[in-house]
Amino acid sequence: QVSWKLADHPTLPKGKTLALIVLDGWGEYKPDEYNCIHVAQTPTMDSLKQGAPEKWRLIRAHGKAVGLPTEDDMGNSEVGHNALGAGRIFAQGAKLVDIALASGKIYEGEGFKYISECFEKGTLHLIGLLSDGGVHSRLDQLQLLLKGASERGAKRIRVHILTDGRDVLDGSSVGFVETLESDLAKLCENGVDARIASGGGRMYVTMDRYENDWDVVKRGWDAQVRGEAPHKFTNAVEAVKKLRENANDQYLPPFVIVDENEKAVGPIEDGDAVVTFNFRADRMVMLAKALEYQDFDKFDRVKVPKIRYAGMLQYDGELKLPGRYLVSPPEIDRTSGEYLVHNGVRTFACSETVKFGHVTFFWNGNRSGYFNPEMEEYVEIPSDVGITFNVQPKMKALEIGEKARDAILSRKFDQVRVNIPNGDMVGHTGDIQATVVACKAADEAVKFDWKSSVFFSLTALEGPNSTNCGRMLMRNEPSEINAMIIDAIEQVGGIYVVTADHGNAEDMVKRNKSGQPLYDKSGKLQILTSHTCQPVPIAIGGPGLAAGVRFRNDVPDGGLANVAATVVNLHGYVAPNDYEPTLIEVVNN
Ligand code: 3PG
Ligand code: CO
Repeated sequence: QVSWKLADHPTLPKGKTLALIVLDGWGEYKPDEYNCIHVAQTPTMDSLKQGAPEKWRLIRAHGKAVGLPTEDDMGNSEVGHNALGAGRIFAQGAKLVDIALASGKIYEGEGFKYISECFEKGTLHLIGLLSDGGVHSRLDQLQLLLKGASERGAKRIRVHILTDGRDVLDGSSVGFVETLESDLAKLCENGVDARIASGGGRMYVTMDRYENDWDVVKRGWDAQVRGEAPHKFTNAVEAVKKLRENANDQYLPPFVIVDENEKAVGPIEDGDAVVTFNFRADRMVMLAKALEYQDFDKFDRVKVPKIRYAGMLQYDGELKLPGRYLVSPPEIDRTSGEYLVHNGVRTFACSETVKFGHVTFFWNGNRSGYFNPEMEEYVEIPSDVGITFNVQPKMKALEIGEKARDAILSRKFDQVRVNIPNGDMVGHTGDIQATVVACKAADEAVKFDWKSSVFFSLTALEGPNSTNCGRMLMRNEPSEINAMIIDAIEQVGGIYVVTADHGNAEDMVKRNKSGQPLYDKSGKLQILTSHTCQPVPIAIGGPGLAAGVRFRNDVPDGGLANVAATVVNLHGYVAPNDYEPTLIEVVNN
């Protein structure tokens, strides 16, 4: 039985409105031309940095600090938001799968037994992201699974690949497909009929998330299940090379591999087994629903084969989706959100669709609902659909900022939590100029910038009655109209915590060990679309921050998991004692 009551903090008051702002993909790195945060005008984040070391510091957001297998693992939003919300470091999917494969336990569980009953007569289909990015999946895990399954009776295997170029360099898909082809060829030599059956780029085929665009999943379904796609090839390496002429890895159109009679070599049929080999949930949930649900109306599946399906992990513990899985997911319990709600902290969370589940589902330990609907409100702002975000780098930052501002000014909430996606989503496109615009937009959502505001100069020139400036009149205090999140916090006497979940926009090139940008054979700069291993900033402040509160200097290795206890303290409570230590202390001035 969990005791939810938190002890009162000995000195910090309750009842201060707290804004908790997560800038997605916003790390700290040396200032050069490939650091988009440095290049962009970011007056708010710059001014917060002036508060170092008492009110601004860096925290770890990658590797073991967020439960990933090694220090070479870059951070990501799943593990980042899990750590931020849960206040403890849990061994994450990547690591749990490694352990299960190394010990062989993966083959002893219910999930594997369930699918292996199809091996005698049916085909084993493996669907997932093909790269060594380690964010959603890993090639070496797929390789071990192929070997393990074939040793345990799988006679016919079909792999449905999704090319990456987002967690790894664009163009690397060709090498991954070659490696997989050679592995499958070896299996064939040992009498297993093993082939790639279909493919497509992860952002265009299958791996949508948070129900942003079901067409993405449908395109994958048609190729994987029905064996239908606009492009047909007899060889997957050739397919990827050819399709790359008009698209990069992330956005390759769907293709199927066909035999000499133009017949797809591996549609999913009655009696087959299917495994989705991604360990990360967000971009597999939609396909899992299509594979598992009897009643399904998101698109016309046309063909619904009777299969045995298992996920690498269970992707949603609340929905129990999928029902069968090879490895148990981390059990992230007693998150800060749940504690705070039990202690009367009214919570508002908001982002746009592409990151909505990050501040809700991941934040709350991979659960999608409210803990207590009377105490919480989660608002999703619909993301633009069908575009790459470099063409719309401002995304919905302003709208998120405004929603948060209104929630703060309504005084109905004690915690107002947002994710501002721009640095990450635009950073993933590899478009440096657009990422600079993205970073500026994110900064503007945090706080209204009077100086860079064109309206300011217009009012200054033309006086407060200027019709040009419409509603934006010059005031001493930010008004409700032009205030953003921190301005609103200033108005209500609240507190802000600004941080990030992992790096991305602060470094847009691949570098050698000494930090020099790397070029490919043709002399082209190697653009980094992925996250990074850089630390992220955290800043605290606001009129409601009690005097004497500052960052401690005895948690130098502090990471994202230390934020939860910090936030719990700022709400006036002592954090549960198994939480990672708080980052703050209160000193008597
Ligand atoms: C994605 O899914 O978009 C990337 O692989 C990781 O990005 P995220 O961790 O920031 O969501
Ligand atoms: Co990202």
